[in-house]
Amino acid sequence: MKYDLIVIGGGPGGYVGAERAGHAGLSVLLIEKRELGGVCLNEGCIPSKSLLNSAKIADHAKEGKKYGVIAENVMIDHKAVTDRKNRVVKALVSGVSMKMKKNNVTVVQGEGVITGRTADGFQVSVGDTVHTGERLLIATGSVPSMPPIPGLNEGYEKGFVLTNREILDIPEVPERLAIIGGGVIGMEMASYFNSAGSKVTVIEMLDHIGGPTDREISAILLKNYKKKGIDFRLSAKVTGITGNEVVFETGGERQSVIADKVLASIGRRPNTKGLGLETVGVEVVNGRIKTDEYMKTNVAGIYACGDVNGIMMLAHTAYREAEVCINNILGKRDRMRYNAIPSVIYTSPEVAFAGETEESAKEKGLDAEIVKLPLSYSGRYMAENAGGDGIIKVILDKRHRTILGLHIIGGYASEIIYGASLMMETEMRVEDIKQIVFPHPTVCEVIRDAMFEAE
Ligand code: FAD
Ligand code: NAI
Repeated sequence: MKYDLIVIGGGPGGYVGAERAGHAGLSVLLIEKRELGGVCLNEGCIPSKSLLNSAKIADHAKEGKKYGVIAENVMIDHKAVTDRKNRVVKALVSGVSMKMKKNNVTVVQGEGVITGRTADGFQVSVGDTVHTGERLLIATGSVPSMPPIPGLNEGYEKGFVLTNREILDIPEVPERLAIIGGGVIGMEMASYFNSAGSKVTVIEMLDHIGGPTDREISAILLKNYKKKGIDFRLSAKVTGITGNEVVFETGGERQSVIADKVLASIGRRPNTKGLGLETVGVEVVNGRIKTDEYMKTNVAGIYACGDVNGIMMLAHTAYREAEVCINNILGKRDRMRYNAIPSVIYTSPEVAFAGETEESAKEKGLDAEIVKLPLSYSGRYMAENAGGDGIIKVILDKRHRTILGLHIIGGYASEIIYGASLMMETEMRVEDIKQIVFPHPTVCEVIRDAMFEAE
């Protein structure tokens, strides 16, 4: 049978693309080699947030005294935490499967390889079966980067070094956990294992944690986690792993830490290997499939979305890119915009941001005004956060009086940030935002307060 669309990869990009296309009446084949839901549902967003929620509950209970609540012998039952995580994942994966059925998407389990093109369409083989599609959507996602650091890959084979996939299923909490990379995965996993009782050391090459986070916010996050007992080695590049020793260079010196397990969270690589892209001439730049704002590749009829294009490796980016792709296939003009996409780090305190940081605004020479307020401006924050040091930081376009970037560190940040993205997407001006009535008492009210602080 010939399909209107073949989707390769059943993660957030692939399953949303398949769902939207099927809903619109296209005949769709979705090929997935592992599990529907991809990295996000099976070994990324959802399992990590499930673990982090347990950590948050434990942390709250441990500091209950501050709020007049006495809870003794609080501890994390790691097996119960992972069992619950597995139930959440299973329910969500089966939800995706149901959505595929409901939208008449044919799902095939196996590895899809593009084998060529005829007048009939593109050929994709799964084992011995060849499928033909008028169009292709490549949504094969990403895999952990495992650079050639001596001992890293050998350590992985021995089960000493783990990636996100293994650590989210680790049967026991390691006594000493060394984390290479203090980016997003590194900090979220450091947070859970610190709460679960590991002695965590984060070794980060840069002089700050949290990847692209605004530096001031990143410094607050660092302070909070130092207080919780995490050992940070910054400006420290891991150069090797020998036995149970993680070796790194810092300030021209060789140092090391001993660990029971090591998490490698040193970035992710788009998954293009063995896909057969060369058979149809899809352009790959620095390992990423090159796409335009309509999610088209250089080959007419072939689209790509999600981590595989390496633009912004987030599940919600993949969702929206998939929709843009399907809308364009259906003849509805739609365009991908990246300037207001929110990012969240689900630590405690949470970090959330969208758009320019103070540093990037400076680098780009933007005429920006920085407005900064402590979250203690919010009555709710004060009521719920004894001694909290959260802030909001808004980067305003001085001339147009619109938001270029917004950053929050503190409780509820993950739920607040979409409002900021909305304001950025719709180019609301300071004066417009001042007229919005925010619910009281909430933490999001500080956005309104920040507008009144602007020049
Ligand atoms: P993927 O989810 O990687 O899915 C690709 C799918 O394609 C996979 O299922 C794979 O098996 C399949 N595949 C690959 N090759 C083939 C082939 N040849 N044939 C058939 N199938 C194939 N993002 C957020 O927005 N929020 C978060 O909180 C968050 N947390 C994360 C936590 C961790 C630990 C990690 C690792 C990532 C996290 N992410 C988060 C990122 C998010 O998981 C990804 O951005 C998202 O999964 C990308 O979706 P995708 O569809 O592009 O690819
Ligand atoms: P990352 O890019 O966020 O962080 C990797 C870190 O490793 C960087 O800070 C880098 O400087 C450091 N590093 C690299 N080589 C090193 C070395 N040799 N020694 C010491 N440090 C080294 O990548 P990460 O954490 O692996 O996450 C990948 C992606 O997954 C994220 O960029 C994000 O797109 C996605 N993700 C999103 C989440 C969310 O939205 N909450 C959660 C987790 C992942």
